[in-house]
Amino acid sequence: MKNTLVLVLVYVLFQPVILAQEERMMNIFARRCTDFSGFWKYIVDPYENGYYNYRWEPFDRMERPGKGAFFLNAKPDAPSDLVEYDFDRSDSIQVPGDWNTQKEKLFYYEGTVWYKKSFDYQKERASNRVFVYFGAANYRAEVYLNGKKLGTHTGGFTPFHFEITDHVRERDNFLIVKVDNRREREGVPTLNTDWWNYGGLTREVMLVETPGNFIQDYFIRLRPGDPTCIEATIRMNGPEAAGKFVRVNIPELGIRSEGVTDENGWADLTVHSKEIRTWSPEDPYLYEVILETTEERLADRIGFRTIQTRGRSLLLNGRPVFLRGISIHEESPFRKGRAWSEEDARQLLLWAKELGCNFVRLAHYPHNEHMVRMADKMGLMVWAEIPVYWTILWDHEETYRNAENQLSEMILRDRNRASVVIWSVANETPVSEARNRFLTSLAAKARELDPTRLISAALEQTAYRGQPDVRTIHDPFAEVVDVLSFNQYIGWYDGLPDKCGRISWKIEQNKPVLITEFGAGAKQGLHGERTARWTEEYQEYLYEETLKMIGRIDGLQGCSPWILKDFRSPRRVLPGIQDGWNRKGLISEDGKKKKAFTVLQRFYLEKAGDGRE
Ligand code: GCU
Repeated sequence: MKNTLVLVLVYVLFQPVILAQEERMMNIFARRCTDFSGFWKYIVDPYENGYYNYRWEPFDRMERPGKGAFFLNAKPDAPSDLVEYDFDRSDSIQVPGDWNTQKEKLFYYEGTVWYKKSFDYQKERASNRVFVYFGAANYRAEVYLNGKKLGTHTGGFTPFHFEITDHVRERDNFLIVKVDNRREREGVPTLNTDWWNYGGLTREVMLVETPGNFIQDYFIRLRPGDPTCIEATIRMNGPEAAGKFVRVNIPELGIRSEGVTDENGWADLTVHSKEIRTWSPEDPYLYEVILETTEERLADRIGFRTIQTRGRSLLLNGRPVFLRGISIHEESPFRKGRAWSEEDARQLLLWAKELGCNFVRLAHYPHNEHMVRMADKMGLMVWAEIPVYWTILWDHEETYRNAENQLSEMILRDRNRASVVIWSVANETPVSEARNRFLTSLAAKARELDPTRLISAALEQTAYRGQPDVRTIHDPFAEVVDVLSFNQYIGWYDGLPDKCGRISWKIEQNKPVLITEFGAGAKQGLHGERTARWTEEYQEYLYEETLKMIGRIDGLQGCSPWILKDFRSPRRVLPGIQDGWNRKGLISEDGKKKKAFTVLQRFYLEKAGDGRE
C-alpha cells in the first residue's frame, strides 16, 4: 500500500503542465479583435536552449527558472549580469507567415523558433474578458504572456486560444510563443508527407475581447428533413452563462426566436419560414444571422442547404449533384509559401471557378478560415480533411487524441459553413485492425459533433479478386463512410495513360463514388511526345484517358483531380523538372496554366450541362 501511495504521488507531481485550452470560441473575425499581424522579433533555437536547462529540465516547470528562459524576455540588471539572448536586438519576421519562405537560412529548418510581440492594452470595459487567439501554429506551440505559461497546442492547422484576462496589463505586455515544427513519428501527420513542412505562426494572431458572459459557440442549420425549419444551438461562456437570455434573428426572413440557456449555458432555438432560399453553387445565398444576449450582438453570414446520399446518388437540397472538383494544397498563389489571407483564398478559388468547379478538396489538413468563408461566398462545395495521412501510429493513444482534437477543432470552427459538405478523416492509410478502429472512432466523433454532413476518407483501390485489369475498393472502412472516395494513379504510378483503356471497375458498395485523386506531373512549358514523362502533352493525355475511364464507373458522383497548382515537396528532387516541387498541378507555381487545364475544363463544361447541378 505504502509503495502504491508513493507511486501515485510521483505521477501526480510530474504530470505534464498542459493547461486545458478554453472551449473553442468561433466566428473570431466578427468579434472585437486587435490584430497582431506585422513584424515580430524572433530567435532561432535548434537546441531549445531557451526552454530547457543544461540538464534538459523545462524552465517553465521551475519555481525560479532563471534568466536563461527565453519566455521571461530577461534583460541584464547590471553590466555584470549574464543574459545570452535579447529579443529586442534580434531580427524580425512577418506574422502570419511560414518562416521557410521568409528567411533563406530557415528554408529547410525544422525545429524551434521563438516569437515575441510587445504591446499595451486598454480593455474597452472593465468587466470584459480578453483572449489571445491563434489561427494556427505549425506544429507545436508553447504560449507565454508576461513570463507566465498560458498553455500548449499541438497540431499545425487548427485554431486555438487562451484567456489572458487576469494576466494582461495596460502597458508593456510581452507575448512570447515557442513554435516547433519538427515532425514526430507519433504526430498527426507523421514523419512522411508529400508537402512542405512550413513552420511558424502561419495564420493570424489576435487579441479578442468579449463581454464577461459571451456567445462562445453556435451551430445553425436546416433541420434534416424539414426545409422550413432552422435549428440554432447556442452556447454561452461565463460565470452567469446559465439562465441567460439569447435571441437568434434572421432579419431578411423576418423571423426570430428567443430563449434562456440551461444550467450548462446551452440553448436550443428554432425558427420557421417557408421562404428559406437554399445555398448552392449556382445560388450561394447567405443570410445575415444575428445572435444577441443582454451583453452582446454577434453577426454571421450563413447559408442553408442539405447534403445527403440516396444509394449511389449524392443529393444537394434533395437534387442529384455531380462534384466537379479539384484538390488544393494551402499554398499562396503569390508568395510560394503557406497561404493564409483572404486574397490567397480568392485567387485559388477563382482558378477553381475558371476550371468549371463546383467543389474543392482542401487537402490534406484544415485550410485557413478565409478559404471556407470564401467558398461559402463563391459557391464551391468543400471537402475538409484532417492530416491523418499515410502511416500514422494507429495504436498510440496520444496520437488518436491528437487526431480527434484536430478533427473537433476543424468541425467546431466550420460547421456553420454551408460550403463544407464532407468531413474526411484520412488519406491513403494502410488497412489494418488498429487503423480501422482509429478511423471508425474518428468517424463516430465527427458524426457526434455534426450529424448534418457526410463522412469520407480517401481510400486506395486494388485488383478485384486477383484480376489486375479489374479494380475495386476492398477496405473495411468503406462500410463506415457515407461517400466512397479513393485515389488512383493509373497512367502515372501504374503504367502509361493508354492503360486506362484496359481497366474496368467493380465497385460493390451501394454508395456515391468520388475519385479524390488522379493526375500526372508536367513541367509547365516543357513540350514533346505525349508518352514523354514531364511534358505537358503527357499530362494532357493522362487526363483525356482517365476521364474516359472514370466515365465507365457506375455510381461516380464526382472527382477532385490532383491538383490545382504545383506545390512544394521535399520528396520531389528531379533536377530541372521538380527542383523541390510536385509538378501535378494544372497551374505552375508562377500561375501559368498547362494544357491539361483545358481538358478538365471542357469535361466540367459538359458535366455542368447534363442537368445535374
Ligand atoms: C498521393 C497523396 C498526395 C501526393 C500524391 C502524389 O495520392 O495523397 O498527397 O501528393 O499522391 O504522389 O503526387
